[in-house]
Amino acid sequence: MIYVLKIYFLGGIWHMKFGHFDDQTREYVIETPKTPYPWINYLGSEAFFGLISNTAGGYCFYKDARLRRITRYRYNNVPIDMGGRYFYINDNGTVWNPGWSPVKTELDAYECRHGMGYTIITGKKNDLKAQVTFFVPNGYDGEVQQVVLTNEGSSAKTFKLFSFAEWCLWDAQDDCTNFQRNFSTGRVEVDGSVIYHKTEYRDRRNHYAFYSVNDAIDGYDTDRDSFIGLYNGFNNPEAVLAGKATDSFADGWSPIASHYKEITLAAGESKTLIFVLGYVEMPVDQKFEADGKTINKVKAKAMIEKFDTPEKVAAGLADLKASWDKLLGILNVTTPDDKVDRMVNIWNQYQCMVTFNLSRSASYFESGIGRGMGFRDSNQDILGFVHQIPDRAKERIIDIASTQFPDGGCYHQYQPLTKKGNADIGGDFSDDPLWLILSVSAYIKETGDWSILDEMVPYDNDMSVAQTMLEHLKVSFYHIVNNLGPHGLPLAMRADWNDCINLSCYSDTPGESFQTYTNPKFKAEGGYSKVAESVMVATLFTYTGPNYVAILKHLGKDDEAAAAQAEIDKMKKNIMESAWDGDWFLRAYDANGEKMGSKECEEGQIFIEPQGFAIMSDVGKEQGADKKTLAAIDERLNTEFGLVLNNPAFTKYYIQYGEISTYPGGYKENAGIFTHNNAWIICAEAYAGRGEKAFEYYSKIAPAFTEETSDIHKTEPYVYGQMIGGKDAQNFGQGKNSWLTGTAAWNMVAISQYILGVKPEFDGLRVDPSIPAAWDGFTATRQFRGDTYEITIKNPDHVNKGVKSLTVDGKAVDGCIVPVSGDGQTHKVEVVLG
Ligand code: GLC
Ligand code: GLC
Repeated sequence: MIYVLKIYFLGGIWHMKFGHFDDQTREYVIETPKTPYPWINYLGSEAFFGLISNTAGGYCFYKDARLRRITRYRYNNVPIDMGGRYFYINDNGTVWNPGWSPVKTELDAYECRHGMGYTIITGKKNDLKAQVTFFVPNGYDGEVQQVVLTNEGSSAKTFKLFSFAEWCLWDAQDDCTNFQRNFSTGRVEVDGSVIYHKTEYRDRRNHYAFYSVNDAIDGYDTDRDSFIGLYNGFNNPEAVLAGKATDSFADGWSPIASHYKEITLAAGESKTLIFVLGYVEMPVDQKFEADGKTINKVKAKAMIEKFDTPEKVAAGLADLKASWDKLLGILNVTTPDDKVDRMVNIWNQYQCMVTFNLSRSASYFESGIGRGMGFRDSNQDILGFVHQIPDRAKERIIDIASTQFPDGGCYHQYQPLTKKGNADIGGDFSDDPLWLILSVSAYIKETGDWSILDEMVPYDNDMSVAQTMLEHLKVSFYHIVNNLGPHGLPLAMRADWNDCINLSCYSDTPGESFQTYTNPKFKAEGGYSKVAESVMVATLFTYTGPNYVAILKHLGKDDEAAAAQAEIDKMKKNIMESAWDGDWFLRAYDANGEKMGSKECEEGQIFIEPQGFAIMSDVGKEQGADKKTLAAIDERLNTEFGLVLNNPAFTKYYIQYGEISTYPGGYKENAGIFTHNNAWIICAEAYAGRGEKAFEYYSKIAPAFTEETSDIHKTEPYVYGQMIGGKDAQNFGQGKNSWLTGTAAWNMVAISQYILGVKPEFDGLRVDPSIPAAWDGFTATRQFRGDTYEITIKNPDHVNKGVKSLTVDGKAVDGCIVPVSGDGQTHKVEVVLG
């Protein structure tokens, strides 16, 4: 295949990228199938979801990647990325796929366009062009796949087309372990051009899946071994090589769905086929036809009919694009840097939708089996998503709060399908409750809808003990206050934000998980050390606490507000007395009462997590703690690819810290570049008025800025990953764990609310940027509480921060908060910095 490598000479070395941004269409265009890692996209944003790589690998599920897996996928396979929705073409013996994989025949042309909720893969071989558009239409429980085949040659062509999807037997965990049972349960039905997957439908399930095509077929396969051959692979299925389907009927083993069709195209002629991979739920009493065996296909047929012509597909795609126009129109900026615009206006907001939908459940690094929705994770995801669809954010916040316990503790995770707390992992992560205060506050600041505080919300999903959301905030706040250690700092418990600092739960037994282990040593103390304290939770408390105070004041509960404020003040004092190390804040006290994250330590002297929140809540500001801390971060944590989590990395094993030093230096929580908490420092730098540094740190990790080093970075250049190898790692600069990370929400907050400074507050829209001095200014459009604000920032004196004047529709306003007008009109806001 002809592929022009894009290489760049940067920092003395040649680098490479593998595609480009198309900002007009809001697509990332991948120009070679051989990306340094599969580069994926997400289809669907309501109930039916698909993951799709640039070679069409991936899988689908309904609501829950563990409990309702529709198609099968093999994680960590050799070769990588096996399982997907594959179209095979046998053109007179030349067998190929439009997305190159799995056959991997060299193509004459290849392109993959990942857009907002859709992916278009085009391949060309021997004058035959195949373009496949994949998307999940709005309000639809299925994936539409439109295949357009064009004969670009000068003579007629006859070839064979095969589709392929492999069913998962619903529960993804059981599906990849329980073979003694599963090899005998698989069941299908074939009706015309539709293949139905109905394993367990007769007994416990009221849902089935189907795979259809809007044309007559010449054959099909539903049994994997018949189609592929027991000793063949996805790359050389026997039926495809033979050029004919076997009309196999799966009875146990591994059911699949493959349509087979022979096609002849005249020179220049095109043919369009529309496939639908759908999911249907039936009321129990209507599951079957009269014979009590055949599945009731009424709903499936209606779904198929919805997208059985190219016109209907085009309308569905246009509708999807229109909904993204609307979502992305809520906040839109034009800055002097098109990479910033690309992140803010398109990709970061897109990723925020994905993290909102999926929390940390299903990506190419999260198997969809391990975790559902995380209490801390999903609360933080709200911060980047709430402006998009506030109603969905509200529902999510209520779901999350429903997994709390009456004392303010909470389940650490819950399953999206059942919405029940996950008892396997349990609770007692010391930071969890505080994030609820932050998400509820963000919701009120965005919408002005204080009624969320009156919602009756259960504890542990038990409605009989429901209380108002306000009470949930109260128990969250006091969960911290009621669990303090000897220095008056919050107890560390199972872990705080850092899942790998387990100051009570360390174990030296192979296989024991630090996150679920209960150390007998602390049995008498209720399971956790009463000595180990987290400074990170202390500063998170001083950062989030004022929101709770503001809420109480708004409700006229002045006494409660004063009491809460007193706790915050006390915490600040305790931090300065016992957790200020002279140049930065300590990380913790371990169960032996020793300092962690101090100059006195041999390794791990400084940690990133407590610092940003301390600065943003003015802890020790009068003593210059903010400037000293930021200088120390720059000196010790800054690298060319971002800020490492701690320094020096741990090279020895410190059992008293739990999991952290189990990682080699430079990876994950042991001095990796954890992009999530880079955002907290970016916010803190901007807060401290240092727009230059804020922007430097931002541009080191924002994917659009690192596109040109995709060869080092490895993961998708359009989304954040959780971690980049730190300076102590051999693979310094290499990204991992892309897509599902708190970085999406937090860096959206960092760039839009702290650097560009457009920040919803309880009483209006704050406009207070902290930008590079070289910028002449920028413009922003922000829909907010029913009005549209057209904001112009001018920076004639080339400062970083400082609002000299602010006018709304020509009228001067004191301070930097645009008051809510609520008249549904467009308002012009002009801000002059100086
Ligand atoms: C992962 C987790 C998050 C945690 C972080 C640090 O990103 O999803 O919950 O805070 O790791 O351990
Ligand atoms: C969580 C976090 C991850 C951390 C792990 C420790 O899954 O996502 O960052 O390394 O816990 O087991």
